[in-house]
Amino acid sequence: MTAVAIPGLDSAPTSHSRVLSWVREVAELTNPDRVVWVDGSDEEAARINAELVEAGTFVPLKSKPNSYWAASDPDDVARVEERTYICSQNESDAGPTNNWMHPDEMKATMQELYRGCMRGRTMYVIPFCMGPLGDDNPKLGIEITDFAYVVASMRVMTRMGSKALEKFVTADGTEREFVPALHSVGAPLEPGQADVPWPCNETKYITHFPEERMIWSYGSGYGGNSLLGKKCYSLRIASVMARDEGWLAEHMLILKLISPEDKVYYMAAAFPSACGKTNLAMLQPTIPGWRVETLGDDIAWMRFGKDGRLYAVNPEYGFFGVAPGTNWHTNPNAMRTIDQGNSVFTNVALTDDGDVWWEGMEGKPEHATSWKKQDWTPDSDEPAAHPNSRYCTPMSQCPILAPEWDDPQGVPISAILFGGRRATTVPLVNEARDWQHGVFMGATMSSEKTAAAAGKVGEVRRDPMAMLPFMGYHVGDYLNHWVEVGKNAADNKLPKIFYVNWFRRGDDKRFLWPGFGENSRVLKWVVERIEGKANATETPVGLVPTADDLDIDGIKEPREDVDAALEVNVDEWRQEIPLIEEWFAKIGDKVPSTMRDELESLKQRLG
Ligand code: GDP
Ligand code: PGA
Ligand code: MN
Ligand code: MN
Repeated sequence: MTAVAIPGLDSAPTSHSRVLSWVREVAELTNPDRVVWVDGSDEEAARINAELVEAGTFVPLKSKPNSYWAASDPDDVARVEERTYICSQNESDAGPTNNWMHPDEMKATMQELYRGCMRGRTMYVIPFCMGPLGDDNPKLGIEITDFAYVVASMRVMTRMGSKALEKFVTADGTEREFVPALHSVGAPLEPGQADVPWPCNETKYITHFPEERMIWSYGSGYGGNSLLGKKCYSLRIASVMARDEGWLAEHMLILKLISPEDKVYYMAAAFPSACGKTNLAMLQPTIPGWRVETLGDDIAWMRFGKDGRLYAVNPEYGFFGVAPGTNWHTNPNAMRTIDQGNSVFTNVALTDDGDVWWEGMEGKPEHATSWKKQDWTPDSDEPAAHPNSRYCTPMSQCPILAPEWDDPQGVPISAILFGGRRATTVPLVNEARDWQHGVFMGATMSSEKTAAAAGKVGEVRRDPMAMLPFMGYHVGDYLNHWVEVGKNAADNKLPKIFYVNWFRRGDDKRFLWPGFGENSRVLKWVVERIEGKANATETPVGLVPTADDLDIDGIKEPREDVDAALEVNVDEWRQEIPLIEEWFAKIGDKVPSTMRDELESLKQRLG
């Protein structure tokens, strides 16, 4: 058989044999009109953005330099967990919380979908690196996509193009491993057929082959489904690598807290999607003398250093933040980051003067174009921005970026915070007695579902370590990995673990705790606990401060609200027990025995 001639296919800027063979294989399967090897240059970005404007996918903003508004297909607005698969050889390795299909069967199904799926389109080949390029062992990938929007977004979210491709072959000529990540919107164009601004397909698959370290995504352009370096690689595939190699790949922000005495503490925090990671990562403390710097807002890779401490690196290069609720009061540092431009806004509203707006932002316009591309006024019944609308913006523009953000060594973590969105039961902050108890808190944490995933919003579900949609293997094995990581470390070097809840509500549904910058008061208490300086009360669920133990000087909320936010209500917690038991029953035999012991002792303490 003679090789198919596809323009661009043979102009590969690399000699890496597996890159060449895989790209050719995909091109022959998907049959694009041309192949573009993405180099990441400014000229290339300008060309791709102009093409996206031409196609109607992007509308350039007048108010921010090099920034664009995009509106998705109304049915392609969030991660699709029902369509997300972990295709391990054995179903028992995917576990009860993941969708599973045998890899052979999934490949046969998807190969038929991919066959000819890029007809009439350009196939982009994006070399990328998750984590600092200076790492001795860089985590590489190639994303193939037929959507220029993905190229523009990957440029913000990852270290990509030539600078990543250079890492594929070492100085002595060794070809490095990489994760092949294939994406198609699944919308081939027949000759003469006009394109739409946001091509996608009703049929969607977000598929992971953990043993092969490979990703296949089809049918969706939404970030979480299409920017394959993010959730698919850095969480689902990386969690499997981490299990095999003894480290942790987690859904966590990384922040640096600096005390008035200039003492530095690094913290990582796992909250489910749309539960406050980006906001906490960029926090502007309300308490005098304390400062926060940002290292990451969504993903942390954590490994033990030579000194026995746990070091965290953020594999990403940009922020993919929830727009609604972001404003100059709640998150001024995010506002400053996006104001510098170079950003993509998806499913927010477009104002008549060429700026973006969303619910919760200052300066509500009299008229705008909604995310559905309809006229919108303050009297409209529907929101102007989709609840899961996003800004995609370079980390390097963040005014409080920590100088060590690109250090391959990472930063030593002193505290891990777990948290969710719970209107009742879970106190504002609660310290674990030890690592194992902290793992139990993470294993049993729960949260109300948000608009970040398709489905019913508000329903409480268990979301272990905020990883429910992101674990690349069996949840029981995952929890066991956390237990083992603790056993293998020197006890006094492990981070302390805390469980937080910014979202507890009063009878009238108001939030009891002001949140945002005021969360610095909780971080201060965390640090004082690490230093052995602050008081805590022993409760059945953990070590909880009273309002007196927290610095609440100058807080606007009445003291009763703070008391209520901190309350451990034994009756409410007794009602959690059957839910935790049901959760453990779902996990099955693989629930670590230590976690069952923790549940038993919790039951005893609750009486
Ligand atoms: P992420 O998806 O975990 O990064 O969450 P974000 O930080 O983007 O926040 C998601 C939503 O929760 C936004 O609408 C925020 O305004 C809101 N939010 C974040 N932090 C707080 C908080 O401390 N209190 C309250 N009430 N809302 C918050
Ligand atoms: P989030 O990230 O955690 O900032 O919402 C995107 C997602 O999880 O879908
Ligand atoms: Mn996330
Ligand atoms: Mn976020």
